[in-house]
Amino acid sequence: MKERVNSQSFDWRKPAGATLAVMMLGLNSCAPNEATPDDQQTRTDQPSAESTDFDPVVIEPVESPSPTDLPPPGISVETPASEPTSEPEPEPSFEQPMPGTIETDPPVEIPTVEPEPDYQPPVPNPTESAPSDHNHAVDCMVQKCIALTFDDGPGPYTGDLLDYLDEHDAKATFFLVGNRVGNYSDAAIAERDGGHQIANHSWDHDDLTNKSLESAQTDIEKTNDEIERVTGIRPTVMRPPYGATNQSLVEAIGQPQILWSVDTEDWKHHDSEYVANYVIQHAQRGDIILMHDIHKTSVEAVPEILDRLSGQGYVFVTVDDMLGSDLAVDRYNQQAL
Ligand code: NI
Repeated sequence: MKERVNSQSFDWRKPAGATLAVMMLGLNSCAPNEATPDDQQTRTDQPSAESTDFDPVVIEPVESPSPTDLPPPGISVETPASEPTSEPEPEPSFEQPMPGTIETDPPVEIPTVEPEPDYQPPVPNPTESAPSDHNHAVDCMVQKCIALTFDDGPGPYTGDLLDYLDEHDAKATFFLVGNRVGNYSDAAIAERDGGHQIANHSWDHDDLTNKSLESAQTDIEKTNDEIERVTGIRPTVMRPPYGATNQSLVEAIGQPQILWSVDTEDWKHHDSEYVANYVIQHAQRGDIILMHDIHKTSVEAVPEILDRLSGQGYVFVTVDDMLGSDLAVDRYNQQAL
């Protein structure tokens, strides 16, 4: 079950001297939202038939191919010459709770107090609107860049994660769930202050493909509003919960959608060593790594990831730094090299 696609099977992505279009792949495994000990919550909402709801819209996942995950008609997806040949894993979405039943529940440790006064009003400064300037002008066409991305926060472990990133001068991208931002204002602001990229992961982690286009638009706008209210930064890119999207949603939402090329499935394993080893073994230049900072085990995997991959010459940058901050409205899952 833990057999993984060998990274060598991804040779198609980066042939020497070749230019590949950015892959546009939808995945259905961005589902960290099952009950977790980390959230100290007892949950009873378990896998459900909802997973099949994704089928009409989900594109083929990179790490966890599923027979049902076929590119939807009409979407231009550059298919790799050779697909990962790993055994199909158990349908990841079986592990998932019903969308909207997870992160919509405020973690028990979240106080219901109002945000502290110093969170409002946000006081943006000029540098905050120029995230591409913050990482020492890294040129990812020259350097071996990796984009670590953390979804579903902010949360109680985000502060520790930011410390780890700072210690390694690493930048990351945080895809925030709107309804958590107010309760974890400190963490969201610290992400901003640390020079990381802040992005949109919907208001309450609903599967946007189950909403009307208008409702999905409203969801994303509401989340952008909240993130901007708290941090002073309005996200320019988003990641659809579960990676569930389609071309109509892309166009309706009107923001570049950032998916991923390496899925740690950290939400399923809750094992720091496993997560660290998985990233270290699979990450290649230009990858976008999917993790979740709402899980303590995921955060605790980060120091080793940074140590080991830094030692191999990798540089950790934001999505904007790696893909550019002027992306067309489309789907992306890795750097075009
Ligand atoms: Ni998510």
